[in-house]
Amino acid sequence: MKIAVVGADGQLGSDIVRTLKDEEIVPLAIQDMDITDFESVNRTLGKISPALIINTAAFTNVKECEKNDREAYEVNGIGAKNLAIVCKRLHNTLFHISTDYVFDGEKGSPYIETDIPRPLNVYGLSKLAGEYYIRYILENYFIVRTSGLYGIHTCIGKGGNFIDTMVRFSKEKDEIKVVDDEVLTPTYTLDLSQQIKALIKTNFYGIYHITNEGECSWYEFAKAIFTFLDFNVNLKRVNSKEFPSSVRRPRYSVLENRALKKLKLNRMRPWQGALKDYIEERKEKGMV
Ligand SMILES: NC(=O)c1ccc[n+]([C@@H]2O[C@H](COP(=O)([O-])OP(=O)(O)OC[C@H]3O[C@@H](n4cnc5c(N)ncnc54)[C@H](OP(=O)(O)O)[C@@H]3O)[C@@H](O)[C@H]2O)c1
Repeated sequence: MKIAVVGADGQLGSDIVRTLKDEEIVPLAIQDMDITDFESVNRTLGKISPALIINTAAFTNVKECEKNDREAYEVNGIGAKNLAIVCKRLHNTLFHISTDYVFDGEKGSPYIETDIPRPLNVYGLSKLAGEYYIRYILENYFIVRTSGLYGIHTCIGKGGNFIDTMVRFSKEKDEIKVVDDEVLTPTYTLDLSQQIKALIKTNFYGIYHITNEGECSWYEFAKAIFTFLDFNVNLKRVNSKEFPSSVRRPRYSVLENRALKKLKLNRMRPWQGALKDYIEERKEKGMV
């Protein structure tokens, strides 16, 4: 199958490209096609004519989205709309990545696909706008909400993922403080890519939650990272009130892979095993 991967040099995009190596992949970075530019999207995808477009491109820096809301909506909202319009014209399928941040975190138990979104920040709002454009324009779409991504090709938009930050802090700080009252599911981009590979073989269109299984606070995530790295650090659990931020974030953004389970397609393993394998890969690549 001919597949265009948009945002191909990003953290998730690069793992999707390496996972789908048996398909006819056309990787597209921002230099090849800027999703905010309709003419560029129309011309580029028109020439390639893929059967499937996987969009991982996004404005992912949550703090920057708050400061540059116009750009956040341009990329995360209008960018998704542009892709959807061109997909409709070309009669092909759009596979789009969204986020746990479309929810407010007040539910207190894992969110399922039919829960009503209520974003707390510009990033979540702009990503939700992208979801709604796709649902409004297309019938053949997959929208996948995921959470806490980490991969070998580090998250460009944030200047590194959480694990990169912890590794850096271990070299710079005597004491590392991490919040213990925000809960998520860390998700390995390679596991997510393999799950995506299984889903694109179906025509079960719709909205999916896809994360590794289980949940943890950022503090518990950090503790597991240092355990697997064999780093002896002075790690302290703190309350988010100790880190006043300009951005409101959901306190509990765990997603349940309910739709995948219903289809008996859920292959996502517990987050601890995924993290262990990821850290091994980092060690092999000298990224510690
Ligand atoms: N990271 C997370 O923890 C997380 C959690 C939940 C959901 N997600 C979602 O997962 C997806 C992948 O995230 P990621 O971690 O792989 O992010 P990433 O590493 O920042 O990758 C995003 C990619 O999008 C590209 N891009 C930005 N603006 C573009 C534009 N106008 N046109 C074309 N390409 C553009 C970026 O290119 P440049 O860097 O060159 O601008 C980058 O290659 C996103 O949809 C994100 O919202 C991420």
